[in-house]
Amino acid sequence: ARGDLAPPVFDLPKSGSKQERWEWLRDKVLNCETCLANKNPNRHIVFGVGNLDADIFFCGEAPGDQEEQQGEPFVGPAGQKLNGMISGMGLSREDVYIGNIMNWRPRTEHSYGNRQPNPQEMDFCFPYLKAQVSIVRPKIVVALGNTAIQAMLGHDRSKAVGKIHGNWHEFEGIPMMPTFHPASILHNESKRAKRRVWEDLLKVMERLEMPISEKQRGFFL
Ligand code: URA
Repeated sequence: ARGDLAPPVFDLPKSGSKQERWEWLRDKVLNCETCLANKNPNRHIVFGVGNLDADIFFCGEAPGDQEEQQGEPFVGPAGQKLNGMISGMGLSREDVYIGNIMNWRPRTEHSYGNRQPNPQEMDFCFPYLKAQVSIVRPKIVVALGNTAIQAMLGHDRSKAVGKIHGNWHEFEGIPMMPTFHPASILHNESKRAKRRVWEDLLKVMERLEMPISEKQRGFFL
């Protein structure tokens, strides 16, 4: 990673609407010197998107190829899977908030493939994710995969997704549900892989007292 990796210290504006505070933060991230130094040339810094009044805040790992081209989280193949999960819940992308731990795609020697961010990179971007959570104040945060889980639970390697998914945790005083990253379903399209994510999402729906049809209960069985 490049530039000054001391995590950014800033105070969100205390007054103003959610929209104004979110725009302030987005502007800060899009102009962040360390993010600009680390992003790939001619690609975008990627900030969160969605409904600022969302009940559910999905948090992934880092932008991939499509995301850094378009400047929007989860618009590539993993994004298609996330969209499928969201619509299975009876929601659309406009109903939820979608962000990532990282605001840039971790650089690799080659243009293909993704690399997991290292802890230093994660710690740098993390205050920006936390600030998004504090603006949206969702009812539930869904941590998608190990990177999001590790960042939110303090790099505790005993908290691997396979062990803790489906069990409620807390992040910034908000109930947090860890589950598998949607890309894991790209690698394993089995019903079983889909069902274990879906059962975690059913718990989210139950906690929010969302209507759940028999059909929804039976997805991927
Ligand atoms: N994977 C992620 O974790 N985030 C994205 O935005 C896209 C793919």
